[in-house]
Amino acid sequence: MCGIFAYLNYCVPRTRKEIFETLVKGLRRLEYRGYDSAGIAVDGDKKTTTEDNSKIVLIKKKGKVKALDEELYKKDCMDLEVELDTHFGIAHTRWATHGEPSALNSHPQRSDKNNAFVVIHNGIITNYKELKKYLNSKGYEFESETDTEVIPKLIKYVYDNREKEDLSFSTLVERVIQQLEGAFALVFKSHYFPGEAVATRRGSPLLIGVRSKYELSAEHIPIQYNSGLFKEGIEQDKNSHNRPDKPDNSTAVNSVGDGKAVEYYFASDASAIIEHTNKVIYLEDDDIAAVVGGKLSLHRLNSLAGENPVRAIQTLQMELQEIMKGNFEAFMQKEIFEQPESVFNTMRGRICFHTNKVILGGLKDHLKEIKRCRRLIVIGCGTSFHAAVATRQILEELTELPVMVELASDFLDRNTPVFRDDVCFYISQSGETADTLMALRYCKDRGALTVGVTNTVGSSISRDTDCGVHINAGPEIGVASTKAYTSQFVALIMFGLMMSEDRISLQPRRLEIINGLRILPDMIKKVLTLDNKIKSIADELYQQKSLLVMGRGFNYATCLEGALKIKEITYMHSEGILAGELKHGPLALIDKHMPVIMIIMKDACYTKCQNALQQVTARSGRPIILCCQDDQEMSKNAYKTIELPHTVDCLQGILSVIPLQLLSFHLAVLRGYDVDCPRNLAKSVTVE
Ligand code: F6R
Repeated sequence: MCGIFAYLNYCVPRTRKEIFETLVKGLRRLEYRGYDSAGIAVDGDKKTTTEDNSKIVLIKKKGKVKALDEELYKKDCMDLEVELDTHFGIAHTRWATHGEPSALNSHPQRSDKNNAFVVIHNGIITNYKELKKYLNSKGYEFESETDTEVIPKLIKYVYDNREKEDLSFSTLVERVIQQLEGAFALVFKSHYFPGEAVATRRGSPLLIGVRSKYELSAEHIPIQYNSGLFKEGIEQDKNSHNRPDKPDNSTAVNSVGDGKAVEYYFASDASAIIEHTNKVIYLEDDDIAAVVGGKLSLHRLNSLAGENPVRAIQTLQMELQEIMKGNFEAFMQKEIFEQPESVFNTMRGRICFHTNKVILGGLKDHLKEIKRCRRLIVIGCGTSFHAAVATRQILEELTELPVMVELASDFLDRNTPVFRDDVCFYISQSGETADTLMALRYCKDRGALTVGVTNTVGSSISRDTDCGVHINAGPEIGVASTKAYTSQFVALIMFGLMMSEDRISLQPRRLEIINGLRILPDMIKKVLTLDNKIKSIADELYQQKSLLVMGRGFNYATCLEGALKIKEITYMHSEGILAGELKHGPLALIDKHMPVIMIIMKDACYTKCQNALQQVTARSGRPIILCCQDDQEMSKNAYKTIELPHTVDCLQGILSVIPLQLLSFHLAVLRGYDVDCPRNLAKSVTVE
């Protein structure tokens, strides 16, 4: 969804052109999140006013960042070659919620026609109507339909009514956020405070990158973990487990910089910062970060004097190449092909294949409590929910606990009873999905132990849960989730293996699964060699309107996930159908024209799936069957087969989903759609 990027150079001379380039590059890194308009605010050329301040210039555009970029160079009122020693520029990509996509509704939003205060905002202000009414009554006029506009207007109102008080920029912001309800990450710029920046957040992520050629003069305080970050660690393989969430090479600080040359990068997402610096500070809810005279300091909302927060400067482990497309046509394609490595990284340092021990460092301190629980509730949305469906059966088998899988929105709608002795898992690639976060807060309030399974370090879910697992799949940029799904799948299986370590009766099963996991990356590589065959199937199918995907047991989740991939990027109608339900309705759809994919692997459901196949072929259906290598029976009955290497039943879904990921990719390309940015969708769904 929306993306924030801002750049402050203090005593580091940059031409205006360089500043534009930095801001635009930041926005480009955020494009994958989904957006429909973009904008920036920079200082204009010095204007002779009574205050001799530079007037802030706003440039906003509906559509792509590219269009904004072109617009920047049309502003002949600005000298692009002028060097600015100190400057603060802010930039934003907006995904419309309140008001249509348009230049006026896009951010930065402003306080008044003079652009005295300008603001970029991610999230939603739920009490904006009341605030707007109040500000209207005070004579403030609104120009956009956004909820955000109340924020710059409100800060101007506080500024205009400060009487004789000499309020700092951060105090003004503090007074504003005291009045705000809802979720936000905000960055403020003002012509009253040139060269200064203020940023704050509540319920929406925000981090600050710091770059300086000087040793950062941070106040050194003993290292401590931020509360709620998963404290992962593993006995047998400490060095190889280079997790980004463990701030072991970090310094805890409450202020940075002491007037020497320094640059700050504010962003809602680490991928916009990594090419500039890997030193970052993640803000927590109600932190207010202010840069004055090149010095960054942190304050807490409503804190008493002297009570300043301590945040770790963390070292991002992300590599620039991880967020570049390389030779692939799309990020989604790259991420599909990364799966041998990404599932390996999920297991790295956590499974010891010599001792058959599995340790998830982020859970080990809570294992006893988890073992005593009444049931496991696994909650997520979309693909993350499918990872829960995919692993439910094996979790029930390995943990011997009842496992409920829940769509976060439905779970909340039902006011589902949750108890102190429940353990609730939150599966989320982004760690920011609004419904999943709300479900987390709901269960926390009821005293359940909360466990996060996320791919995003520093995300709200990884902070707010009691403990958890980072899936370490690496940044996922394509809106359609692929490698995060297979890594979530593996992470949940590892949890099951860890829980069953002392169950003698389960040892043969554990061993079988651990051996399957050991060779999983190679198996995935084999599946990926089917790409050409899958492309030729896509060539046949891409003009169809509909596509059904059927299976059952361990492969039911693959049907749901495959159908989701197809509908979200190809815009074809697609449905994942439980083969056991076929005769209760879906069979009516079958005829010789309806494209059907069936997943029939050699597992406990094989015979039942064969029955479903008979029902389909008896209605002249012509199924494409995903089956095990050399399954003659399937070759006889199928219109076409896609033969997969055989693995342990509970891991087969990791292999069977890949052909469907590839198929959806090829279908979308053939239909001429933007694979990475499907219409109407965003990578991180931060609204309910
Ligand atoms: C589909 C997809 C979405 C997400 C869902 C939850 O390809 O990506 O269905 O899985 O929006 O997002 P996270 O996992 O970030 O909570």
